[in-house]
Amino acid sequence: MGSLRLAVLQFAPRFGEPEANLSALEAILAETEADLVVAPELALSGYLFTSREELQGLSEPVPGPATERLAAALRPSGAHLVIGLAERSAQEVFNAAVLLSPRGVEGLYRKVHLFNEEKLYFAPGDGGFPLFRVRGVPVGMLVCFDHMFPEAARTLALAGAQVICHPSNLVLPEYGQLTTRVRAIENRVFWALANRHGTEERGGARLRFTGASQITGHDGKVLTRAPEAEDA
Ligand code: ACM
Repeated sequence: MGSLRLAVLQFAPRFGEPEANLSALEAILAETEADLVVAPELALSGYLFTSREELQGLSEPVPGPATERLAAALRPSGAHLVIGLAERSAQEVFNAAVLLSPRGVEGLYRKVHLFNEEKLYFAPGDGGFPLFRVRGVPVGMLVCFDHMFPEAARTLALAGAQVICHPSNLVLPEYGQLTTRVRAIENRVFWALANRHGTEERGGARLRFTGASQITGHDGKVLTRAPEAEDA
């Protein structure tokens, strides 16, 4: 069995500015000392969409130019990355988590449990909860609201996952930080919750994202936790 140095990356993506968000991520990834970095949900586009057309315009093919750039940014360190992004397929857009290595795309998970108005814009994943290996360690991915459904993490654990990577845009203070500790204990897995911070105000709605990204051990102990409203 291998070992992994895990990191969670917390920042405040700018809505509708994928180039700025990608550049910010490239700069951080170039300096990482971790083996596996987990970044937030919808980290390239932002979160609060107001139409399907807007989402379509801010979505990315996988693989595509954005994933190529991220893979290139991993080359100096040799690290892997799990990042949340809006994935454009032939017919639909999915709220996805992508596993990248310096060679390119190694895995894809499409969010099954869409939260609130996400259902207006995204298609739900129906590909189950696939398992991947990073340096020999079995790793699964979930996206944000999936944490509320114990079956999601349990399915990954039954398949052999030892680490769950969890790109998020959490808006309910402390829920995700608590449930992911419980899921870690229930399933004896390490849990890397990468949440964003900042606020978005669009189309009459306002959301404040709760930061406090955390890595939890398989015994439920919090190994590291970021501040609520700062990059980390
Ligand atoms: C969420 O699933 N982004 C709350």
